[in-house]
Amino acid sequence: MTAVRPEGSAAAHAPVRVAPVLLDEVRRRTASGEALPGRDALARMVRDLGGVLGREDLEALATSVRAEVQGAGPLQPLLESPGVTDVLVNGPGDVWVDRGAGLERVDVDVGDAAQVRALAVRLASAGGQRLDDAVPVVDARLPDGTRLHAVLPPVAPGCTVLSLRVHRDVAYTLDELVTGGTVAAPMALVLRGLVAGRANLVVSGATGTGKTTLLSTLLSLVPRTERIVCIEEAGELAPDHPHVVRLLARRPNVEGAGGVDLATLVRQALRMRPDRIVLGECRGAEVREVLTALNTGHEGGCATLHANRVEDVPARLEALGSLAGMSREALAAQAVSALDAVVHLRRDAGVRYVAQVGAVGRDPDGGGLVVRAVLEVGAGGDVRPGPGWPAFAARWGPGRVPLPGGPGESAWMTAGGRA
Ligand SMILES: Nc1ncnc2c1ncn2[C@@H]1O[C@H](COP(=O)(O)OP(=O)(O)OP(=O)(O)O)[C@@H](O)[C@H]1O
Ligand SMILES: [Mg+2]
Repeated sequence: MTAVRPEGSAAAHAPVRVAPVLLDEVRRRTASGEALPGRDALARMVRDLGGVLGREDLEALATSVRAEVQGAGPLQPLLESPGVTDVLVNGPGDVWVDRGAGLERVDVDVGDAAQVRALAVRLASAGGQRLDDAVPVVDARLPDGTRLHAVLPPVAPGCTVLSLRVHRDVAYTLDELVTGGTVAAPMALVLRGLVAGRANLVVSGATGTGKTTLLSTLLSLVPRTERIVCIEEAGELAPDHPHVVRLLARRPNVEGAGGVDLATLVRQALRMRPDRIVLGECRGAEVREVLTALNTGHEGGCATLHANRVEDVPARLEALGSLAGMSREALAAQAVSALDAVVHLRRDAGVRYVAQVGAVGRDPDGGGLVVRAVLEVGAGGDVRPGPGWPAFAARWGPGRVPLPGGPGESAWMTAGGRA
C-alpha cells in the first residue's frame, strides 16, 4: 500500500504502508473465515515476518489493514474526513475531493493504473457487483453505504475512473437542515405541510446539490402509519421511518438477461399497497410510469430530477417523456395533474440550499409546461413569495396544509416570511 496523509484526515491514525506480504497473509486468513486481525494479532504477524512495531505504529497498521481489506484502501481516510462528500480518482496522482467548497486536488498516492483498477474491482465486488472487461462500468453501493461508480479502460482511456459519494446513514431532520442553513425556516413550514398534505413532490437540482439527502429528510416526516415504497438504482435513500420497502433496479447480465428496470419496479410497486411511491431518481422512460402512478390516486409520491435550474425542469421532464414515447402535449397534461410542487436545490460557493418551491402549470400561450415560483430565496437570503404563491396558497392553504401566516401573500409577509 501507499502512504496517505491527507490534510484534515479524521482517521484515528494516519495511514501507513502495509507490506504486500502482510496484506496477502491477512487476505488469506480472512478469506478462510478468520476475523480481521486486531492489534495483537497483527503484532504477532509482524513478528513472524521478522519485524517489530511500537504501539502507535501498530494502531496505524491496524487502521490501514482494515482500510485495505474492508474499506477503500488509500481512499478510506478521505472518505472518513469530516465534510468530504465526494472522492474522485481520475488516475495515478489525480485524486480530488469535495469538502463542501468545490473540488480540490489532494496528494494521495493510489498506486499505478493497475492498482487503481484492482481497487475498483475489489470495491465493486464488495458492493455485490461485477466489474471486468465484459462489464466495464459499475454503479454500486458499498456495505457502508458509500456510492461507487467506476469505469475501466478502455472505456475510460488510460486508467480506471472512480467516483465515490459519501453516504449518511441517518437522514438529517428538517430542523437540522434549517439550523445548517439548507432550508429557510419558512420553507421548512411549507415542506412539512406539503408532506403532511400528501402533495406529489419533485426534488430537483444539479448534480450533488443534495436532492437525495433532502428527499430522505422529507420522507422521514411521513406519518409512521404509512408504507413507503422506494424505487432506486443504488439504494441511497435513508429515511428515518419504520416502514420503508426498497426495490432496487438490476442491470441485465452479459447475456442481456435478468434486468429489472425502474419502470417495471414502479409498476410492481403499485401492487404492493404503497401509501407513498418514491422514485429515488427519475432519469429515463420511467417518468411515464411515475406520472401515471401519481395520476391514479397515489398521492404523496416523490422523485428527484436532475435539472441545473428550476426553469429547466419542464424541458427535462419533456426530454424524459420523449424517451418513453410521450408527446410534449401528453407529458404536459400528465405532469400538470400529477405534480403538486417542485422543490429546487441550489449550491452556491459550496452551500446547498432550497432555492425555490415551485408549482407545475401550463403556459397560457403555448400550453407547454412551466414551473411557477411559489416561494424563492432571494440574493440576500430572504424568502419571498413568487408569482405562483396565491394559487398555491389557495390550494394548499389552511385546512390542508399549515402554510405560514395563512393563504394570502400579505399574511405570509407579516408572518415573518423574510428570513
Ligand atoms: N444539506 C446538506 N448538508 C450537508 N451535506 C449535504 C447536504 N445535502 C447533501 N449533502 C452531502 O452532499 C453529498 C451529495 O448529496 P446527495 O447525494 O443528496 O446529492 P444529489 O443531488 O442527490 O446528488 P446526485 O445528483 O449525484 O444524485 C452527500 O455526501 C451528502 O451527504
Ligand atoms: Mg441523488
